[in-house]
Amino acid sequence: MKNENFRQRISFGQDARASCPAAGSVWREVLWYDTIDSTNDALKRRAAQGMAAGTVIVADCQTGGRGRRGRTFCSPAGKGLYLSAAFSPRCAVSELSAVTAWAAVAVCNAVETVCGVRPCIKWPNDLVLNGKKLGGILTESVFSETMEPIVILGIGLNLSQNEADFGPELCGTAVSLLQALGAAPDRKTLLNAVLWELECLFRAFPEGRGDYLALFRRDCVTVGGAIRVQSAEGARIGNAVGISDSFALRVRWEDGTTEELSTGEVSVRGLYGYL
Ligand code: BTN
Repeated sequence: MKNENFRQRISFGQDARASCPAAGSVWREVLWYDTIDSTNDALKRRAAQGMAAGTVIVADCQTGGRGRRGRTFCSPAGKGLYLSAAFSPRCAVSELSAVTAWAAVAVCNAVETVCGVRPCIKWPNDLVLNGKKLGGILTESVFSETMEPIVILGIGLNLSQNEADFGPELCGTAVSLLQALGAAPDRKTLLNAVLWELECLFRAFPEGRGDYLALFRRDCVTVGGAIRVQSAEGARIGNAVGISDSFALRVRWEDGTTEELSTGEVSVRGLYGYL
């Protein structure tokens, strides 16, 4: 993290806290950088110093934005919302796998509030609009012997990219709010809405699972369609038939057997060019 890129320390909450159900915010500070390698990595460094919980890091641009499975998350300057938020969950480690799904619901809520359109969710972590990827969530946990576990929720949303910003590799599969709606939302307004929704999530997690599960089931475009699941053993074809109570994907394979996937590389027929 280069200090010269540090832009401002925002005392978060004036807008969002006004409508907060409980006094005080879980967010102690919001740090905004012009350029950073990855907001998730920056929070991991703070976690190593015991300073991450309650911190949000936002950047105009990421030089090393990351997605799941070691992929790059394209993060051009001023074109997207790139943020990571850290909190200490009050739950068993086994419950942490669901937090990405919760966050997907929270981000859909925020986009709907600000833009009037609700993205769908491609299980487990992609936000989808018009059949293309609007954004994604990268959840990472930090464990140590001396501290409470820290969960880092990294969120990337495409706001004002055009085809040239995405480049030939992504322009067929990615979409921005500008492309989908004809106008990009104000970034700080959307940031406040996302932080407000994440605050609601952190207060509800894990006891309020029912509400998030119902929304996830309603919004998940993966269910009801043909899918291909890629693993080290090869590709397998099946149908996504439901979401379990723990947010796992229920799959019926071609041979009629069923399985619940808690993680995986899933292509959905009709999305991102998978025919
Ligand atoms: C995915 O598409 O698999 C997840 C993408 C997550 C991108 C966000 S942008 C902010 C945060 N910092 C990162 O390096 N990644 C996440």
